[in-house]
Amino acid sequence: TTVRIIGAPMDYGADRRGVDMGPSAIRYAELADGLEQAGIDVIDAGDLSIPRAEERDPDAETPARGNAKFLREVADVSDRLSDRVAGALADDEFPLVLGGDHSVAVGSMRGAAREADLGAVWFDAHADLNTPETSPSGNVHGMPLAAVLGRGAFDEMAWAHAPRVREESIAYVGLRSIDERERELVRESEVTAFTMSDIDARGVTAVVEDALDVATDGTDGVHVSLDLDWVDPKTAPGVGTPVRGGATYREAHAAMEIVSRYHERDGVVRSMDVVEVNPILDEGNETATIAAELTASAFGKRIL
Ligand code: ARG
Ligand code: MN
Ligand code: MN
Ligand code: MN
Repeated sequence: TTVRIIGAPMDYGADRRGVDMGPSAIRYAELADGLEQAGIDVIDAGDLSIPRAEERDPDAETPARGNAKFLREVADVSDRLSDRVAGALADDEFPLVLGGDHSVAVGSMRGAAREADLGAVWFDAHADLNTPETSPSGNVHGMPLAAVLGRGAFDEMAWAHAPRVREESIAYVGLRSIDERERELVRESEVTAFTMSDIDARGVTAVVEDALDVATDGTDGVHVSLDLDWVDPKTAPGVGTPVRGGATYREAHAAMEIVSRYHERDGVVRSMDVVEVNPILDEGNETATIAAELTASAFGKRIL
């Protein structure tokens, strides 16, 4: 496998500045070395160029934006990133997108779903299923799944909706924070939700296997989205929306090893993003280091 690293230093989707430094921090944590130790060839395609948020108007009018902030900018990044992701796949490379906040997943998934029916496994404390109508914060990083599914106002937005992503092919792993109206959205959807209680009750291995079964069933490939706030904030403190009670260091590695097994067995994993690392909020470069280690595990790095 050849992995193409695509940096998306985007922070339009989150309130707390700093997540745009995620790609640098994860590279500094020797992501490429880790992948090479897993036997992967690595091409680093650099970063998308993304204007600073201060130079933009969060409330610029776009059709149906509701209270969503920086929607024009997120749309532009989504278009450019989806081209890069689709381009990597067309060259037989594996697109690995480094965020940036979680709104980058719209571009990753649209690109990966251009020529394929795409499932997704969403490692996250949050459901990220708000629409511009339901979001309490207006932050698009809480909306990427609604965007690709074309829910609410996103239905009309070509940069958002990915018609080859179906909700029954999406599985959450580790959910533990959800907004009131978002809870209804998740409940009435066909998305499969494995919460932290499922991990407590059944163990992370069984849960991640089930999630991958959901995402591979009837699809051509799977997108893995790794939001570092999935991991417990004592272990991964450098995130903008920490929620206690997350995956332990060992659970996180075990989960990524399951991902790598599916990957090796059937080649079903098609694309991945690693998001929400915020170096300003981090202790040392701990969270980026864990992000790099988990990614290497997902590509098969082993102790022996
Ligand atoms: N549910 C909250 C919101 O919509 C938080 C979302 C956090 N998302 C994330 N990718 N960290 O504002
Ligand atoms: Mn998220
Ligand atoms: Mn999250
Ligand atoms: Mn749809």
